[in-house]
Amino acid sequence: MIYAFLNQKGGVGKTTLSIHTAAELALRGRRVLLIDADPQGSALAWSNCRETVDFTVVGMPKATIHKEIEMLAGDYDDVVIDGPPRVTELARSIILAADLVVVPLQPSQMDVWAASETIDLVREANVYKPDIGVCLVINRKIANTAIGRDVRTALKELGVPVLKSDIGQRVAFAETASTGSTVLPKRHSKASKEVKKLVNELRRLR
Ligand SMILES: Nc1ncnc2c1ncn2[C@@H]1O[C@H](COP(=O)(O)OP(=O)(O)OP(=O)(O)O)[C@@H](O)[C@H]1O
Ligand SMILES: [Mg+2]
Repeated sequence: MIYAFLNQKGGVGKTTLSIHTAAELALRGRRVLLIDADPQGSALAWSNCRETVDFTVVGMPKATIHKEIEMLAGDYDDVVIDGPPRVTELARSIILAADLVVVPLQPSQMDVWAASETIDLVREANVYKPDIGVCLVINRKIANTAIGRDVRTALKELGVPVLKSDIGQRVAFAETASTGSTVLPKRHSKASKEVKKLVNELRRLR
């Protein structure tokens, strides 16, 4: 299964959720390849700080990913692609490489607009490859806020599935970036449970 975390908006959690999805799948015994397809190289930088080697991380910010993905994915059960911000040929190539495009967004109206543009890109790609799926996941949700609830209503209009598993705004996620770690070792923490739920839901989708 090839998951691509994509949203042209910067800072919505593409890298954080890519890393955590890859790590959670690896923890479940899956052979996982994480492709850092963002020229900023954040996932690669994260993996350079990492002591554990539980999955492979490669950098490949190239608009030929869709042509090479079959060869790259050969030895793995799952591939996770961390996409770049901005709409580019690279973003289009990533969509064509994916089975499921996961669009993270924060609970704000501006993020709803940005997400709709990423969904449009997937629909364009669906002309060539109708079986590419797309779903939305709310990241950095602040518990019990009106905007957290309202955003779901706004997202319904986009006409694509919104995952039930929201990811909360949690310092634990922010801390993992500079340390090459994940929130997963603390299996009973809220952050870890959220990732587990997210990955369960992603796996049920396809
Ligand atoms: N759920 C969360 N709780 C707290 N901090 C978070 C959460 N998700 C992401 N962050 C923090 O927000 C910042 C942006 O996240 P991240 O780098 O994952 O976004 P991105 O979409 O990959 O950004 P870019 O478009 O620049 O690649 C990072 O500092 C990250 O640690
Ligand atoms: Mg990123």
